[in-house]
Amino acid sequence: MKHILDELETRRATARAGGGQKRIDAQHARGKLTARERLEVFLDPGSFEEYDMFVEHRSNDFGMEKQKIPGDGVVTGWGTVNGRKVFVFAKDFTVFGGSLSETHAQKIIKIQDMAIRNRAPIIGLFDAGGARIQEGVAALGGYGEVFQRNVLASGVIPQISVIMGPCAGGDVYSPAMTDFIFMVRDRSYMFVTGPDVVKTVTNETVTAEELGGAKVHTSKSSIADGAYDNDVDALIEMRRLLDFLPGNNKEGAPEWPSFDDPERYDESLDTLIPDNPNKPYDIKELILKTVDEGDFFEIQPDFARNIVTGFGRMDGRTVGFVANQPMVLAGVLDSDASRKAARFVRFCDCFEIPIVTYVDVPGFLPGTAQEYGGLIKHGAKLLFAYAEATVPKVTVITRKAFGGAYDVMASKHLRGDVNYAWPTAQIAVMGAKGAVEIIFRGADAEGIAAKTKEYEDHFLTPFVAAERGYIDEVIKPRSTRRRVARALAMLRNKRLENPWKKHDNIPL
Ligand code: HXC
Repeated sequence: MKHILDELETRRATARAGGGQKRIDAQHARGKLTARERLEVFLDPGSFEEYDMFVEHRSNDFGMEKQKIPGDGVVTGWGTVNGRKVFVFAKDFTVFGGSLSETHAQKIIKIQDMAIRNRAPIIGLFDAGGARIQEGVAALGGYGEVFQRNVLASGVIPQISVIMGPCAGGDVYSPAMTDFIFMVRDRSYMFVTGPDVVKTVTNETVTAEELGGAKVHTSKSSIADGAYDNDVDALIEMRRLLDFLPGNNKEGAPEWPSFDDPERYDESLDTLIPDNPNKPYDIKELILKTVDEGDFFEIQPDFARNIVTGFGRMDGRTVGFVANQPMVLAGVLDSDASRKAARFVRFCDCFEIPIVTYVDVPGFLPGTAQEYGGLIKHGAKLLFAYAEATVPKVTVITRKAFGGAYDVMASKHLRGDVNYAWPTAQIAVMGAKGAVEIIFRGADAEGIAAKTKEYEDHFLTPFVAAERGYIDEVIKPRSTRRRVARALAMLRNKRLENPWKKHDNIPL
């Protein structure tokens, strides 16, 4: 028996050595951890159960029959994060550059099937060179099978991708269909075709970083939801993110013990809104002062910063926050902000996470750039997302709620459950100046000033909306946490179903 056990240990040690010490050293020299080291950081100590560590590729072309490395470039299995089950796969760059072969794909597929069947999140760590070039169509078929499962898992279990090295060709489309993508700065990049192909086809000269680095994808393309300085930071933050997420679409938002009184008042919020209605203030201050223990996990902090999205907790339970940001473009809704928030709202609705919306929005951004870019359809995405969402929706209008943007931002008319306004709220078709110039075109300056004052006094308050019941209550800023937490507690057993359909046809 000892001999048999020794043989097992030897085989395991060979598999764990991946592509060998030289390649492991090269990985470290680039500031990257190996696949197994990453899983060690990410999972609870001792919780990792590895599967398929002896799987080898079956290719006999281009001398591959002489190069077999157990594990075949991906480490797969499951473990726990703060005691909660998660399925994982981590590309091993030291083995054939982490490239995807037929058998490599089968290992990922097995884990995807297990995650779907057992209703737990799946996290993929990417660091790879795309399709195993020696395998041709067998690799392409493998990708297709992975993609198919990404789609079936979508809306059933959370899927997270972390890009920790190269990610090109076939490797980018699986992450693109997951719920969140995170990257590591200066070490990871994502593109469909690399700089060499770009040069050949378009004669454009770009570096990998310029084409698909973390900066590009977190601030320009919005492909990535966040970026971190190194592997360890990224993995620790993924543990934090998972704590906010339910295991699946039936489990409900997770709850952790909270030591922050849900009835806590914050008097400083009474002076958050500046006297001048055109002066900005930071809406994140409101979020941080209302969530439990100031703990907020922001999604896409560097893209469309005129809207803030992210997860926090109220009375221990996860809530998705969407808030216009007056500090950036006066919090206006443009195409990027609408797309960003729509996707976030849909994620929350898929996974039964209640949505809290803080509104201070002067309207949709006018102009040819926006209209040519499809603002109507992009704005409609957010409208659609809020309107179809059946999770508890609590809204607080802090200042402006003008025009169509008033309707869009989780208004009563889109089945907002509890809609509050601060006394500083201004709910109207548009701001006073624009409104008066249209209604009283041709009036002299004195007349305009008088009518502007009249319009402001009459319309730019929350009370016209409150008189109609569109606002359930006008609340003091200091009591926002208490009122929102109580509303969410009241909505705990909310039941609302949309009419049966195969799926909707959201304007894409
Ligand atoms: C087989 C690969 C590989 C691949 C890398 N390797 N990519 N082996 N298939 N796709 C191997 C290398 O031969 C090398 O082996 C080791 O991995 C490390 O690669 P290096 O090139 O030395 O590393 P580096 O200089 O860091 O460059 C990394 C890289 C580069 C940028 C990823 O390797 C690269 O460009 N690879 C090819 C990328 C690509 O074009 N993939 C196909 C995409 S098409 P040794 O033995 O020397 O360590 C695709 C289509 C799918 O994916 C579409 C589905 C929809």
